[in-house]
Amino acid sequence: MAASGDTIGFAEIREWALSRTRGTGVEIGCGDGRNFEYIPEGVALTAIEPDKGLAAAARERARGLDVTVVRGVAARIDMPTADVDFVVSTLTLCTVSSLESSLYEIHRVLKDGGLLVVVEHNVANSPSFAAWQRVADSLWPHLSGGCRTNRDIVSAITEAGFDAVEFDWFDFPSKRSLSPARTMFKGVFEKAAPEG
Ligand SMILES: C[S@@+](CC[C@H](N)C(=O)[O-])C[C@H]1O[C@@H](n2cnc3c(N)ncnc32)[C@H](O)[C@@H]1O
Repeated sequence: MAASGDTIGFAEIREWALSRTRGTGVEIGCGDGRNFEYIPEGVALTAIEPDKGLAAAARERARGLDVTVVRGVAARIDMPTADVDFVVSTLTLCTVSSLESSLYEIHRVLKDGGLLVVVEHNVANSPSFAAWQRVADSLWPHLSGGCRTNRDIVSAITEAGFDAVEFDWFDFPSKRSLSPARTMFKGVFEKAAPEG
């Protein structure tokens, strides 16, 4: 699993992400459950995690909270269509084996008008940094649990049928970092109403 950056300031970003949740929802790839402490009161969460050890750690963190941790993957969510108010994903869409299938499934389980809250790194707009990300992508996934550095996750989300209602680019940990995962965004995307 890629470093979460919590010790160098990522906690605030997690807090931001969870502050955008409401009602009942899903977290994909919850890891060891480090987002749980930021869940607002009254929000109920099903947290999906494929890794056995991480899911066990997440269950520990879920004690006393309205959180159910299940083993599974984002591309196959065991829930009815149009069932939940939100899906949250922090540093997971970079890692899922099929980005398109995962977004399709996220879109399916959301109610119309439901929200997808995402914090991720993305391929950079700068051609030179994007070239570095492409080079790094040959090695980076082997060092960081399958995390890909050259995905255009923002475009994939839009193509999957979501409209951005809140969106910001930021560099993490800083613009001077050479990390190929430094080009980050945080966004809230609404499941677009069906046309016609
Ligand atoms: C970089 S970690 C991020 C963990 C957590 N979201 C966080 O913010 O700390 C990526 C997570 O995605 C999980 N993952 C990998 N493939 C996945 C998939 N296909 N569906 C859902 N989660 C997946 C990994 O097991 C891991 O927990």
